[in-house]
Amino acid sequence: MHILVTASSKHGATDEVADAIAKRLEAAGFTVDRVAPADVTTVESYDAVVVGSAVYILQWMPEAHDFMERFKDDLRDKPVWAFSVGMNGVPKHSEQDGNRVGPLLTHVNCRELRTFPGRYKPELLSLRERSVARLAGVVEGDFRDWDAIDAWADDIAAQLGA
Ligand SMILES: Cc1cc2nc3c(=O)[nH]c(=O)nc-3n(C[C@H](O)[C@H](O)[C@H](O)COP(=O)(O)O)c2cc1C
Repeated sequence: MHILVTASSKHGATDEVADAIAKRLEAAGFTVDRVAPADVTTVESYDAVVVGSAVYILQWMPEAHDFMERFKDDLRDKPVWAFSVGMNGVPKHSEQDGNRVGPLLTHVNCRELRTFPGRYKPELLSLRERSVARLAGVVEGDFRDWDAIDAWADDIAAQLGA
């Protein structure tokens, strides 16, 4: 089985989450392509797709939006797992969509949308980004839960029959 893992990340935290998911699926015996959304030209050869994005101002990043738009017809017939990486709910770690990502997934065969806590390191950001983050009350720290990310990948693998 051939799986595409694609994710849009601005400052690297989401890319590392996607890398971990890809690694775990490979360890479960799948063939995995880990490709940036903008570099995907076709999804035809994939049996399943895992697509994710960092969340900025309640939205997935433009490359992830574009990916969903370009492939929405092809993704109707394939199982899709979607994940957001953001600070919504951090440090309480509650999972919520924020209502802006769901509509992107209504036209595809999305099995699940999962939100993982992300990372906010002000030193990686521009002054402008830092002021927006401060206004939005984003909490500094790396809240990524690698065990939860691995467990989610294991769940995908199990659903695909690993
Ligand atoms: C300017 C700014 C806006 C953000 N807006 C949101 C948001 O609306 N919702 C959310 O859950 N997280 C928000 N975050 C947190 C990011 O999603 C989080 O830092 C994420 O881990 C970034 O991933 P990346 O390193 O892959 O870009 C924001 C962060 C910044 C700096």
